Amino acid sequence: MQETINLESVAAQYKESLKYNDFRIVICAGTGCMANGSEKVRNAFLNYIRESGLHVKVELKPEENHKGIFLSESGCQGFCQMGPLVTIEPLGLLYVKVRPEDVKEIVDRTIKENKAVERLLYEDPSSGEKCKGIGDIPFYTRQSRFVLKQCGHINPEDINEYISIGGYAAARKAFTTLSPEDICKEILASGLRGRGGGGFPTGRKWDLTRIQQEKKKYVICNGDEGDPGAFMDRSVMEGNPHSVIEGIMIASRAIGADEAYVYVRAEYPLAVKRIRRAVEDAENAGILGDDVFASGKSLRVHVMEGAGAFVCGEETALIASIEGKRGMPSPKPPFPAQSGLWEKPTVINNVETLATVPLIIKMGAGEFRKIGNAKSPGTKTFALTGHVRNTGLIEVPFGTTLREIVYNIGGGVTNNDGTLAEDGFKSVQIGGPSGGCLTEEHLDLPLDFDSLTGIGAMIGSGGLVVMNRQTCMVKIARFFMQFTQNESCGKCVLCREGTKQMLALLDDIIEGRATVETLELLEKLALAVKKGSLCGLGKTAPNPVLSTMKHFRKEYTEHVVSKWCSTKNCKSLVAPEINPELCKGCTVCTKKCPVGAISGERKMPHKINVSICIKCGACAQACKLNAITGV
Ligand SMILES: Cc1cc2nc3c(=O)[nH]c(=O)nc-3n(C[C@H](O)[C@H](O)[C@H](O)COP(=O)(O)O)c2cc1C
Ligand code: SF4
Ligand code: SF4
Ligand code: FES
Repeated sequence: MQETINLESVAAQYKESLKYNDFRIVICAGTGCMANGSEKVRNAFLNYIRESGLHVKVELKPEENHKGIFLSESGCQGFCQMGPLVTIEPLGLLYVKVRPEDVKEIVDRTIKENKAVERLLYEDPSSGEKCKGIGDIPFYTRQSRFVLKQCGHINPEDINEYISIGGYAAARKAFTTLSPEDICKEILASGLRGRGGGGFPTGRKWDLTRIQQEKKKYVICNGDEGDPGAFMDRSVMEGNPHSVIEGIMIASRAIGADEAYVYVRAEYPLAVKRIRRAVEDAENAGILGDDVFASGKSLRVHVMEGAGAFVCGEETALIASIEGKRGMPSPKPPFPAQSGLWEKPTVINNVETLATVPLIIKMGAGEFRKIGNAKSPGTKTFALTGHVRNTGLIEVPFGTTLREIVYNIGGGVTNNDGTLAEDGFKSVQIGGPSGGCLTEEHLDLPLDFDSLTGIGAMIGSGGLVVMNRQTCMVKIARFFMQFTQNESCGKCVLCREGTKQMLALLDDIIEGRATVETLELLEKLALAVKKGSLCGLGKTAPNPVLSTMKHFRKEYTEHVVSKWCSTKNCKSLVAPEINPELCKGCTVCTKKCPVGAISGERKMPHKINVSICIKCGACAQACKLNAITGV
């Protein structure tokens, strides 16, 4: 029989060992910072601290009770663009863009003299002031880090550290004092909705699975995350993998499952490694396995690497993939809750959903409901990218406005060259390939599941791409269409052929072959693909096209009628223009223009009215000074 772990004594021992450290240096070891060389920074710290004759520890051991410097790693801290990030505790200093060459100065000044290295502190571009730590950086202060709270603070590869912050106490409560029905009731009362895109009430899903008569049941954690640009789930798995395992444990107890799977895409090697390590450590600690917390229940968790297809994130395709079949969706009903993995009742939840669960059990449904808004309680993580000053991983309560995210957390819209663009906002693409584009009129809309579906968009899994006025919305629609077309599994004709045709029509628009009828056809086809596809991929694939057509109709019309792209992104549709530096105002072009599109006073630079111009080229041919382009 396995020994039952005493969480409190593990936590107390860990906290005791922490006391024996003058400093803790936390180096971000998330994928972003690793790509920017955080491992080299860590090695430089290790070597220089040793060279300096100081005592350095990379692991906390209870028996090591003499003072030293604790060099530790964390998962993604969110501000990846500023990485590699290094935090020095207890001073609360956050150093950004740290290179191995900076390490000597940090140790000499900060560790030995308790002074900050000013040049490595983040400078707030709006005020020009240096920020000491995350408590002063607007990117962080405007957020509510709830699920991500410990990512960036704890070492994801140390189970004792997770236990020391109260980890696994919620799982123990679930296995020892709560009945499956109690857990389902609590999660239902919390109003928690799935973060994988659909927003389905988690408590209802669990309860449906709980009441199934089958003895064998499964829990699956969906860590596939195939949306382009999204990395929220990856960050949770890399930064706090035990919170995901604990969520899986509570879900398993709620439905009566003794086996669970974590399905992680193979392109996430660090997430795979940390989740595997977390499962192994939880097994070795006696948390997972037989007789969990002396409850008489057992639980085995398997980690499986996904095949890297976007459609494998769809629940029925994912189940097929675990069963060793080709990852293709199948019709529902039956729902996985009734007949899922190997035809057994199965709960499938997103990573972020599961990582929220232990927090709810710990704080209670009532407290959880105080975060977010009535129909969408809690917080949501987003991958904020595109034309904003601060890109990265953010977390905000549901109901936060787009304006707050773009201007306060994101620091404002930027031009293509990265400079701040006052009044440069054009749109936000939300929800990845399943989502839609929001405009200026939506800047004050509270972001939650229902308000977005109300305007034909969706929260999706959390991709947020900000776009400035230099962005061509037709090209954006094409980008997502290309993605879904590539990823269609081919099972449904409308998804397989319809997305191909939609892509071809978008190409016609971009390359100047389209007419007004093309737009009508595109719209019709989009609605047919939505209606006639089996799974969410096909059903939502037309969303970026439909929403850009709705909110940026003028841009589409310009492409097909005037044959020009106002943002100059479509090479075949460059707008006709007279270069004022070259034009001497000779009026030759004015006389040649058959539609009267050119105006201007004699001896002054002339102008072309692009909405009248038919691009016949007569003016350019007549102009001796080669001042006219784009016709
Ligand atoms: C094409 C497609 C891809 C999907 N990819 C993911 C994914 O990567 N991660 C995820 O959690 N859900 C994904 N989903 C949603 C899942 O099918 C499922 O609804 C979700 O995992 C349920 O968990 P939740 O209730 O916690 O949101 C996808 C759906 C579709 C249609
Ligand atoms: S809608 Fe597309 S991705 Fe989904 S099953 Fe049909 S063909 Fe496959
Ligand atoms: S291209 Fe033709 S229609 Fe357009 S401004 Fe020149 S002459 Fe006029
Ligand atoms: S990976 Fe370091 S902040 Fe994101």
